Amino acid sequence: MKVRKAVIPAAGLGTRFLPATKAQPKEMLPLVDKPSIQYVIEEAVAAGIEDILIVTGRGKQAIEDHFDRSVELEQLLTDKGDEDKLELVRHISDMAQVHYIRQKAPLGLGHAVSVAEQHVGDEPFAVLLGDDVIDEGEKLLSELVTSFERHGASVVAAMEVERSQIKAYGCVDPADEVEPGLLRMADIVEKPAPEEAPSNLAVIGRYVLHPEIFDALRATGPGAGNEIQITDALKHLVHNSERGVLAYPFTGTRYDAGDKNDYLRATVELAARRDDIGPAFVAFLRRFVADLDRQAEARGPARH
Ligand code: G1P
Repeated sequence: MKVRKAVIPAAGLGTRFLPATKAQPKEMLPLVDKPSIQYVIEEAVAAGIEDILIVTGRGKQAIEDHFDRSVELEQLLTDKGDEDKLELVRHISDMAQVHYIRQKAPLGLGHAVSVAEQHVGDEPFAVLLGDDVIDEGEKLLSELVTSFERHGASVVAAMEVERSQIKAYGCVDPADEVEPGLLRMADIVEKPAPEEAPSNLAVIGRYVLHPEIFDALRATGPGAGNEIQITDALKHLVHNSERGVLAYPFTGTRYDAGDKNDYLRATVELAARRDDIGPAFVAFLRRFVADLDRQAEARGPARH
């Protein structure tokens, strides 16, 4: 079963980033000069995905406009002879087939995935959460896809986090290794208290799911936060499906674009790596940090 489709839930209100997200979807906040959702779609395309379904809600029109053609803008750039920008703008609307469906009520991530059933049908699909931005150099999604194709079981990306942080994530209880770097789950729990967490292996927002997840979602009632959780549907599969569920521990670079500190870290690291703006930006950062150090030295040793 080949993985051709991806689902991107994007109906959330983005309250962690108010006031920026009051009248603008959080998925459109830029990292340097590109909306975070464009990084996510480029990642899906790079992993061989041809068809993308974005699950939207009220106030998300800007996402549809972004991935649509902009005839006026293309005309303006053509008239100006600005080939580079024209290419940049066309690439956005050409890179994949993007479809939209509305999640009519905020009933949780699991519910957002279930809304995709009719579009996805009876085939495996990827789910990418927009808050998790994976560095462009990583091959995480491709690796999840090949793991799925080898084993035929749903597979979830996970990452080790500080134990105190596990309460913000789905938490994997690993059983055994099915092959080097791929674990079979014994259980999975949504947002456990650190003292009850079975491990410090956190689910990050990349999944390749067998279509049996839709039946599992139907069997899943509200969980953490009184929402239908994808984690609880995966738990159902761990305990009821003969395929089980796999976890792929990831050790590369991932940013939580919904967290202000991580958002800033992503912006700085991505900008520093760019050929066009990177060198001047890095020179600025060096001066900036040196100034901070000088100021701290002038103030003398910190008193506690
Ligand atoms: C969601 C999932 C959680 C997962 C996390 C990854 O939580 O419910 O299992 O670990 O994404 O980012 P949220 O961040 O929406 O609270």
